[in-house]
Amino acid sequence: MDDDFGKFFRNFARKYKLSSMTAFKDLVQMRRSHRKFTEEEIDPEDLRLILRAALMSPTSKGQRAWQFVVVDDKLDLEKLADAKNLGSQFLKDAAVAVVVLGDPVQNDCWVEDGSIAAISMQYQAEDLGLGTCWIQMRGRGLDDGTAADTVIRGVLDIPENMNCLCILAMGHWTDERKPQAEDRLKWENVHLNKF
Ligand SMILES: Cc1cc2nc3c(=O)[nH]c(=O)nc-3n(C[C@H](O)[C@H](O)[C@H](O)COP(=O)(O)O)c2cc1C
Repeated sequence: MDDDFGKFFRNFARKYKLSSMTAFKDLVQMRRSHRKFTEEEIDPEDLRLILRAALMSPTSKGQRAWQFVVVDDKLDLEKLADAKNLGSQFLKDAAVAVVVLGDPVQNDCWVEDGSIAAISMQYQAEDLGLGTCWIQMRGRGLDDGTAADTVIRGVLDIPENMNCLCILAMGHWTDERKPQAEDRLKWENVHLNKF
């Protein structure tokens, strides 16, 4: 879909609460990470649809063991942005953060389940004309050795058994991104029958 037309149409659809009617093949091409946001809040119905996408995502053994914390408190967003040393500062200016959690003891596929839920939310947000960015938290932390998990648990009162996979920053983007370039896809990484 043409870039400008696609953007116009999706914004129009969002304004008038219509389905964007973006074909999935176009949606996957349009989705890019956004790290700059306006101060506009996310419409509660849009947020509900985004979380609905997570709750409808497939899980190992149908466990649906993930947990999500939606954060719109500015002070807490700032604290979460400081949970690791690199690549998370822009969270301070997001309208909302969705913290994706799993219990590694209860669910050996907590990373996979959380990842699928996260990308499902990212595509739903994209379809609503909203911007997202995955902020990695699993295995990340501060220079002094503090794990991101420790910071996040403290800020959001998360039980000890839950680990944070990632935080999705969300909002109305201001950083225009080009759709994925068709001619830069790594088709050489796809193998037929044998590697
Ligand atoms: C597992 C994973 C971890 C990521 N961690 C971060 C992060 O911590 N901070 C960040 O700004 N972007 C992060 N990203 C976003 C990537 O940088 C981004 O998806 C990649 O550069 C491709 O750009 P695109 O999403 O615009 O296509 C992460 C993405 C994935 C899938």
